[in-house]
Amino acid sequence: MLVLGIESSCDETGVALYCGERGLVAQALDSQIEIHRRFGGVVPELASRNHIIHLVPLVEDVLAQAQVDKHALDAIAYTAGPGLVGALLVGASFAKSMAFALNIKAIAVHHLEAHLLAAQLENQTLKFPFTALLVSGGHTQFIAARALGDYLLLGETLDDAVGEAFDKTAKLMGLAYPGGPLLAALADAFVHEPGISPAVAPFPRPMLDRPGLDLSFSGLKTHALTTWNKSDKQEGARSAIARAFQDAVVETLAVKCQRALDVTGDGRLVVAGGVGANRALRKALSRVMDERGGVAYFPSPAFCTDNGAMVAYAGYLHLLQGEYDPTSAIHVKARWPMLDVYSPRQMT
Ligand code: KG4
Ligand code: ZN
Repeated sequence: MLVLGIESSCDETGVALYCGERGLVAQALDSQIEIHRRFGGVVPELASRNHIIHLVPLVEDVLAQAQVDKHALDAIAYTAGPGLVGALLVGASFAKSMAFALNIKAIAVHHLEAHLLAAQLENQTLKFPFTALLVSGGHTQFIAARALGDYLLLGETLDDAVGEAFDKTAKLMGLAYPGGPLLAALADAFVHEPGISPAVAPFPRPMLDRPGLDLSFSGLKTHALTTWNKSDKQEGARSAIARAFQDAVVETLAVKCQRALDVTGDGRLVVAGGVGANRALRKALSRVMDERGGVAYFPSPAFCTDNGAMVAYAGYLHLLQGEYDPTSAIHVKARWPMLDVYSPRQMT
């Protein structure tokens, strides 16, 4: 079975081809980071326009790489939400039209579910049930994944998503958009001289004193701003703040992850979404799982951030269960809770 996957929920156009027998056969991506950088964030209108420009050439590229004729496709999976409505509509309109023209199935994929399944795409030993930490630019959630399409939200951020907090903290210290990876690189490179008290005091660990699995990151960003404004605003202060910020985020997530695993009783932790590429987070969560005698699964960094492969794979799995979008209408959902992952798939 051959499924073409199309991702266009934000500022990456991703296309990939997943084959039931051979796995991932081809993929291509266009990132719009350079386009949005001068505006300091994603401009939705520009995102939609660039998806329009790049989508068809990327599809042609993927089919050519795989040496597959479009008539050999069994289905086209596309991200139907959540995301920027205009950006989603580009992918959805294209996918549904192409599926209609080829008389094949179209599958509406939930973007966050696709992120959760990205680890399994690379490592088929990963089975349900598992506990997931989803950390992206728009979402930060703990999810109990019981089976395909059966997800329970255990807790989430009450304000900024982790990626958003990384990006905003980076921006307030003058780093270019998206500053998350740059801030992480500064934090990783920061060397604390032994015996000398740090130039920046440790940041608070938000919400750890409260029960439950909700999170909050906007206070850390404000704390970073106050600390930055009091500093000499030189490279040393930037690195020390980056490190203090990252340490606080990583420790908070590690403690809350343990609580989430205590609740679910799972021995498997899946880390998904763009911030899943963060090295300090990966190290801390691997240690947590080692100590618990469980296993942490991380997609490789290219599959942590938005891509077409995870959409093709999620679509393939749902198609195996006989789930697809039977209507000819083009629907997207800018907001789409994971709990409803079944009903809107039918998009009626
Ligand atoms: O999942 P993703 O590609 O897009 C969304 O669906 O949001 O996540 C992008 C986010 C951005 O906020 C980016 O700064 C952050 O992930 N990010 C990182 C790292 N790599 C990407 N944050 C911290 N450390 C990283 N290494
Ligand atoms: Zn994403």
